[in-house]
Amino acid sequence: MKIAIVTGASSGLGRAYAKQLDRLLHPDEIWLIARREERLQALAGELGCRGRVLAMDLKRRESVEVLEALLAEERPEVAALVCAAGFGKFGRAQDLTAEETGDMIALNCRSAVEVTRVCLPYLERGSRLLEVASCAGFQPLPGMNLYAATKAFLLRYTQALRWELRGRGVKVTAVCPYWVKTEFMAVARDTANPDAVRHTPFAMRPEAVAAWSLTMNGLDLAVATCGPIPFAMEVGSKVLPACVPMALWDKLRRM
Ligand SMILES: NC(=O)c1ccc[n+]([C@@H]2O[C@H](COP(=O)([O-])OP(=O)(O)OC[C@H]3O[C@@H](n4cnc5c(N)ncnc54)[C@H](OP(=O)(O)O)[C@@H]3O)[C@@H](O)[C@H]2O)c1
Repeated sequence: MKIAIVTGASSGLGRAYAKQLDRLLHPDEIWLIARREERLQALAGELGCRGRVLAMDLKRRESVEVLEALLAEERPEVAALVCAAGFGKFGRAQDLTAEETGDMIALNCRSAVEVTRVCLPYLERGSRLLEVASCAGFQPLPGMNLYAATKAFLLRYTQALRWELRGRGVKVTAVCPYWVKTEFMAVARDTANPDAVRHTPFAMRPEAVAAWSLTMNGLDLAVATCGPIPFAMEVGSKVLPACVPMALWDKLRRM
């Protein structure tokens, strides 16, 4: 059985990836993972293939164990894995609660790594692996410190994983978009200091980001920046000392 697995499929980028992988790969099933079951059921009904709903909270270690057991039972070919489940919180490190801080690290870092780990044995030559990081991971971002740090982690993890998987024929890409029009902003502003980041201009549509990054992944590129602004940020982070983009960002976020 050929399947695709998409985490964060109930909304935004994950939902867009699920629909596009359905058309692109014609898998037998797409396993849809997020907490909101009714959203996943509705998406499953829109797919051409069978959508298998796995409603689970990926912050909990037991959820990944359920996925691991299901994979061991079905032994599918995982033709695509997209780890899109994630969230951010606006605010300085001192503005965030222990729960917000811990949950962000648990979901954005640990769950992505754990879901990937249990899927690795089922990836075959030509399989696609996309880890949804962010251009926030290119440099430290005061006012969005924790989120940027989690995405820097995921970016580095993905780059080294790509190297480790060389020879297996798996296409591994870290997706690093700029702002995307999803439910991300509403979640990020639900914090003690929502004005730490006042505006999110030039946001892209999730469908465009998913399509662009799948094309970049098809070309086996390591990083998909999905637009001129994140591309400039990627280049800037390589040639400038970190204090330069940090100072620039610190002005922009208050405007
Ligand atoms: N939007 C942006 O500006 C932007 C830019 C760069 C990168 N990104 C990254 O893109 C990814 C997708 O975000 P998005 O923009 O599509 O935001 P979104 O619309 O809020 O989607 C986030 C997804 O993550 C799922 N999720 C959240 N907590 C979860 C948990 N504990 N367990 C399982 N699933 C969980 C949500 O589903 P449930 O709530 O149903 O669980 C939802 O499906 C994230 O990793 C984000 O960091 C976003």
